[in-house]
Amino acid sequence: MVRALFWTLVYHLAPEKWNELARFEPIHPALVEALPQSLDTALDVGAGSGRLTAHLVARCRHVTAIEPSTGLLALLRRRLPQVALVAGWAEALPVKDHWSQLTTSCASFGPDPAVLSELRRVTAPGGMIALVNPEDPDWFEAHGWQRTTAPPMAAPEHPRWIDEFFGPLDPPRELLTTRVERQEARR
Ligand SMILES: C[S@@+](CC[C@H](N)C(=O)[O-])C[C@H]1O[C@@H](n2cnc3c(N)ncnc32)[C@H](O)[C@@H]1O
Repeated sequence: MVRALFWTLVYHLAPEKWNELARFEPIHPALVEALPQSLDTALDVGAGSGRLTAHLVARCRHVTAIEPSTGLLALLRRRLPQVALVAGWAEALPVKDHWSQLTTSCASFGPDPAVLSELRRVTAPGGMIALVNPEDPDWFEAHGWQRTTAPPMAAPEHPRWIDEFFGPLDPPRELLTTRVERQEARR
């Protein structure tokens, strides 16, 4: 039971532990480089303490982050006060249709139809959905998403307790992207 709920328990009961792990598992720079720049609006879903959100802030004028854990939201607020934070779930995003020119998520979801439908709904016509290290990247690639795989990257020097608590570190290095068709977003 505890094993099944391990990550949920970490996000909600020990958010600072997740924050430390994310700090020492940075997203591969080649993936960040591949994201579009100079946009008006971006949305990060399941934002955690802001590992991917921080990169969006450097590229987009208005960034909104969705995250259900109040502890992680508090860490995110302290780290990125310029981001609009909303407590919520990916299956029912509290965001207007077509609001986001770039909709992202890092290490939070796989090919869940309810989540994918919401990501498409909130993304502007011609906008991009970009998932860093989604579960089952092969599924996305087989369904026409563009896949970028960066070479393996060693985690930076970090305290030993992180490996003991979480296991070996493996910084995210997969990016799956798709464009929302103009007719598709109008439906
Ligand atoms: C592996 S963490 C990744 C956090 C952040 N994206 C990062 O890369 O550091 C997964 C995150 O997704 C959030 N999450 C889990 N289920 C969710 C759902 N159904 N809707 C929105 N967020 C969810 C968790 O609270 C957690 O912050």
